[in-house]
Amino acid sequence: MNSRVLTGITTTGTPHLGNYVGAIRPAIVASRSRDVDAFLFLADYHALVKCDEPARVARSRLEIAATWLACGLDPQRVTFYRQSDIPEIPELTWLLTCVAPKGLMNRAHAYKAAVDANSESGGDPDAGINMGLYCYPVLMSADILLFNAQKVPVGRDQVQHIEMARDIGQRFNHVYADAWRRATGRDAAPFALPEAAIEENVATLPGLDGRKMSKSYDNTVPLFEGGSKAMREAIARIVTDSKAPGEPKDAEGSSLYAIYRAFASEPRAIAYREALSQGLGWGEAKQQLADLIDGELGEARERYAQLMARPDDIEGILRAGAAKARVIATPFLHDLRETVGLGALAAPTKNHGAKKAADKRARLATFRDAQGFRFRLFAADGEELVLSRAFDNPQALGECTRALLAAGDPAIETIGDTQYALLDGAERVASSPAHADRGARDAAMQKLRAALQSLRS
Ligand code: TRP
Repeated sequence: MNSRVLTGITTTGTPHLGNYVGAIRPAIVASRSRDVDAFLFLADYHALVKCDEPARVARSRLEIAATWLACGLDPQRVTFYRQSDIPEIPELTWLLTCVAPKGLMNRAHAYKAAVDANSESGGDPDAGINMGLYCYPVLMSADILLFNAQKVPVGRDQVQHIEMARDIGQRFNHVYADAWRRATGRDAAPFALPEAAIEENVATLPGLDGRKMSKSYDNTVPLFEGGSKAMREAIARIVTDSKAPGEPKDAEGSSLYAIYRAFASEPRAIAYREALSQGLGWGEAKQQLADLIDGELGEARERYAQLMARPDDIEGILRAGAAKARVIATPFLHDLRETVGLGALAAPTKNHGAKKAADKRARLATFRDAQGFRFRLFAADGEELVLSRAFDNPQALGECTRALLAAGDPAIETIGDTQYALLDGAERVASSPAHADRGARDAAMQKLRAALQSLRS
C-alpha cells in the first residue's frame, strides 16, 4: 500500500531560495518515489486569513503554481490542486468545527501569540484577530483528513497543527463511530490520523542578514521572479564581514557559504571553503555562488517564464488536479453527511441499532488505488456486486459509469460458473467476486440488475 503524503502551501508570497531548498526541492524528490501517493495543494483559503489584498493573493497563487511546475512537479503523478477548487474542504471544515473543542483552539500558537502581543501592548486581547486565524487549525485539519493523509511534511512551526488534526479527527471518529458504521457498513473509522513528517536533514537557509531566510524578515533571495538579475542583486546584498580580498576568511560563520553548500556537491563546497580561507574576495565569492545557482536553476527559470506567460495552461492543470482530488472527496463527503444526519430524508428509525432506510439503496462508490480510478457497486444489502477495472483518469471513469447507467438493459455476461462481468459495449469493465456456485452467482446477477435499475431512477 502506498503511503499518502499531503502538504499545502499558503499563497501569500513570492517563492525564494529558502522555500526552494527547504520545501520545494525535497518535496519534488519525494514525489518521484514509487511508493508515495503525493497530494500537493495551494492553500489559498488559508491565505485570506493573513492577507486581504486580492491582487497579492492572486499573484502569489500563479507564482507558486508556476514555480512548482517549473521545478519539475509532475501533475500526472502528483495530485496538484487548489484548496478553493474543492468545495468539500469548507464543508468538512464545518463538520469538524462542530466537534473541535474550543479549548484546543485557544491553545494554538499563532492565535496565542497574537493575543499575547495585544495584551502586552495593553489593548483588547482580541484586537485585529479574525475568526479565520482562530479557526485556522480546523480548516487545516479538513485539508488533511479529507484525503486520509498519513504523512504531512511541514516545518516545525506547523507540528502543533498536525497534532490538532489528529485530535479533531480522533474526536469525530469517536463521536460518530456507530453512526458511521450504520451509514456506510464500514468498520474502519472515517479518518486516518495523520503524522507530521519533519525533514531533519534539510537545510534552513540564512537570509541576507544572517537570520533565517523568510518573507517576514524581508531578507530573501528571489528564486525566479526578476530573473537571474534580481537574484544576483540580492546575493550582492548578503551581509559579510569587512575582510578585504587576500585576507583569510572563515567560511563557517558566513551566510554565503551556508547557501553555497545547499547547492554544491560536497567536494565543490570544500573547495569553496578552502578558497575563502585562502583569501578569495567576498565579491568574487558572491559571483561564484550566483553562477552555481544559475547552473542548477537556469533551465527551470526559463520554464517558469514560459509558464507565467500562459496562466490558462496552469489553470487547466489545477482544474484537472481538482477533478482528480474530488473523485475521492465527493463520495467521502457524501458518506460523512449521511453519518452526521444530513443525508436524504428517510423515515425515522425506531430502533437505534437498526439499519437506516438510506442503507437500503444500492450504491456506486468511486475511488482511487495504485493502478488508477475505479468504481465498486454495492447492492442494497451491502453486498459487493462488481469491481471495475482501473481507469487512467476520473473523466474516463465518469464516462463509463454514466454509460452504464444510461443503458436501458445492462449487458452482463458470465465468466465460468461463479463470476460475471458488466459490459460497456464489448468491453468487460467490471467483474464480480467469485461466488460459491452457480446459484449464488445468478442471485448476485439478479441483484446487479436491480441495483443498476435503482441507481438509474
Ligand atoms: N498552514 C501551512 C503553512 O502555513 C499550510 C497548510 C495549509 C498546510 N493546509 C495544510 C500544510 C495542510 C500541510 C497540510 O505552512
